[in-house]
Amino acid sequence: MYKFKVNKKLALAIIASLSLNACSNDNSANQNDSSVVLAVVNTVLPAAQAADYESISIKPGGFNLGKVASEEEIAGWHIEVSPTHNLPPGGGSAADGEDLFEDECSSCHGSFGEDVGRNPVLAGGEGTLKDRQKPERTVGSYWPYASILLDYTHRAMPFSSAQSLTWDETWSLSAYVLYLNDIIEDEDFVFNAESYSQIVMPNVDGFVRDKRPDTHNSRCMKDCKNPKEINVKTALLGYGSGAEDVVEETKVVKGHEIGQKVYDATCRLCHDSGLAGAPKVDDVLTWEHRLRQGISQVHKHAINGFQGQNGVMPPKGGNMELTDEEVKAAVDFMLKDIEK
Ligand code: HEC
Ligand code: HEC
Repeated sequence: MYKFKVNKKLALAIIASLSLNACSNDNSANQNDSSVVLAVVNTVLPAAQAADYESISIKPGGFNLGKVASEEEIAGWHIEVSPTHNLPPGGGSAADGEDLFEDECSSCHGSFGEDVGRNPVLAGGEGTLKDRQKPERTVGSYWPYASILLDYTHRAMPFSSAQSLTWDETWSLSAYVLYLNDIIEDEDFVFNAESYSQIVMPNVDGFVRDKRPDTHNSRCMKDCKNPKEINVKTALLGYGSGAEDVVEETKVVKGHEIGQKVYDATCRLCHDSGLAGAPKVDDVLTWEHRLRQGISQVHKHAINGFQGQNGVMPPKGGNMELTDEEVKAAVDFMLKDIEK
């Protein structure tokens, strides 16, 4: 045990300057060496600040700043609900939750979870996950465990006053959402820790462990690229697969299949819904109009990007990994029913 005198304010400044080297994770041997850089500051402080000093014991191998969190403090953060432990107390039925849902939730989610405006739809969509064009991912069609519903509702809803619901209210509202999805059929069924295991979500087997690494890059230790020349890869991925994999896979598939893969991963986000002013893929009139400039110009716009009257089409849809050919294939796929 070493004894150090540490000024509290200074300690905070040091904590703020702890820089965790967490930027690289190549899933191999390097995982444990994220190094911590400590700024050491020498200062002489006036005696008047002596009260700020506190004697702190520093164990070898640890910084030991601050104090050990108390059980109450941990409990305040430890609010997750998991299917295997920590099911919350209380309970309630769909019938109990109905009025509350109407009062607290329906303004955004609709009386039957059908959505009002732009909030997530909470019910329906079962069996649509395999539809690549329009999978409807709701609590009922997509979520694998009811515990997520309890956790999410208690943690984050109602949107404007999160964490205001009691556990009884949370169980009742969750029962009501499950009732809207026909997962609970009896409105008087009391949903609680005892009855929890009777609820099996339709998509419970729909998830697989994703073995792909978080990043395909390996850590660079010498002769590294100038950061200014590094392109940030698109964050605008479509539903499901990552764009990097598409690039790999597209080398083997042909024609519209390539186009469709690229479209799904990179372009769909905007062109399916018209996000950011993008012409919708099924808006025939718009595309006929755009095609008057000639298909090669349309290809060029998709590859190089352009600013039009509706908004900005980012070069290659923001995914600079794509080859020109892949972008052209995506355009041809988008226009396959309109061209000619
Ligand atoms: C002011 C609008 C608003 C109100 C009121 C509201 N929500 Fe939400 N809800 C949202 C928004 C927005 C999201 C999406 C948040 C996000 O994705 O970050 C959401 C997401 C959800 C989700 C996750 C859906 C999904 O598929 O991702 C559930 C479940 C949910 N809300 C339940 C409720 C319940 C139960 C109530 C009533 C206690 C409620 N909400 C009240 C706006 C609202
Ligand atoms: C961030 C949203 C966004 C993404 C992602 C995106 N686009 Fe666009 N795209 C736009 C917008 C906005 C326009 C319309 C610009 C205008 O005319 O004002 C557009 C226009 C186009 C046009 C019409 C060009 C013309 O000459 O009229 C094509 C073709 C196109 N995009 C193809 C693609 C392809 C292929 C991808 C995927 C590789 C893609 N876009 C991804 C937003 C997007």
